[in-house]
Amino acid sequence: MRIVFLGPPGAGKGTQAELAAARLKIPHISTGDMLRSAVARGTPAGKDAAEFMNAGKLVPDPVVLKMLEERLREPDARSGFILDGYPRNVEQAISLASLTQIDRVVFFSIDLGALEDRLVERRVCPQCQAVYNLKSNPPRVDLRCDRDGITLVQRPDDRREVVEARFKTYLEQTEPLVRHYQELKLLQTIRADGTPEAIAKEVTKVLD
Ligand code: AP5
Ligand code: MG
Repeated sequence: MRIVFLGPPGAGKGTQAELAAARLKIPHISTGDMLRSAVARGTPAGKDAAEFMNAGKLVPDPVVLKMLEERLREPDARSGFILDGYPRNVEQAISLASLTQIDRVVFFSIDLGALEDRLVERRVCPQCQAVYNLKSNPPRVDLRCDRDGITLVQRPDDRREVVEARFKTYLEQTEPLVRHYQELKLLQTIRADGTPEAIAKEVTKVLD
């Protein structure tokens, strides 16, 4: 199964991709996570990317495509994958189609108005990358990761002023992919405004 999770920032793509990937025994490939790792390691690609990410803009297509091509060549991706955050514009969808065949695109449908607070309240563990939410999924103790006790941090692009820019980028560049994949008859839409458990059931329904 070669699957794409498509949806606005904060729709729950990462949360649901973790669960579905574990269930289907295929890797969860997030271009956002790969870029954040490149930024943290200070690689040349990471240095270029940080400026775009912190402004809520897309990182240039060739940078992301190169990273993705390398990742898809790894042995664990041969039996399938869940792509989270790629493609993000029509050009990327065309590049992806030339690399591999996609079997299904799951679109996380939700009003952007419901997402700003989710993003602003998100905190992540800088060590193990576990994702929390101060409102809907808080850590057990203060601001510390349940797994390793490390102090949680906010993603630089989860500040309210950057979130607005990310929504604008999404509407202008990524949302047109809904139509693109509808026309290719690959799109499965799920309502992404319930609890994580309810959404997981929806995801299971459209993938199994
Ligand atoms: P990326 O990391 O992909 O960010 P995004 O698409 O904006 O999506 P998020 O990761 O913010 O949200 P999500 O849908 O994964 O939600 P999550 O499950 O975490 O990209 C970041 C940046 O990298 C981009 O802006 C761009 O600059 C660059 N980039 C990445 N890919 C690129 C590409 N292909 N081309 C160019 N540039 C690229 O959930 C969010 C929060 O809500 C969490 O706190 C979670 O705990 C909580 N939550 C989850 N589900 C629920 C629920 N059902 N109810 C309540 N709370 C919930
Ligand atoms: Mg994510």
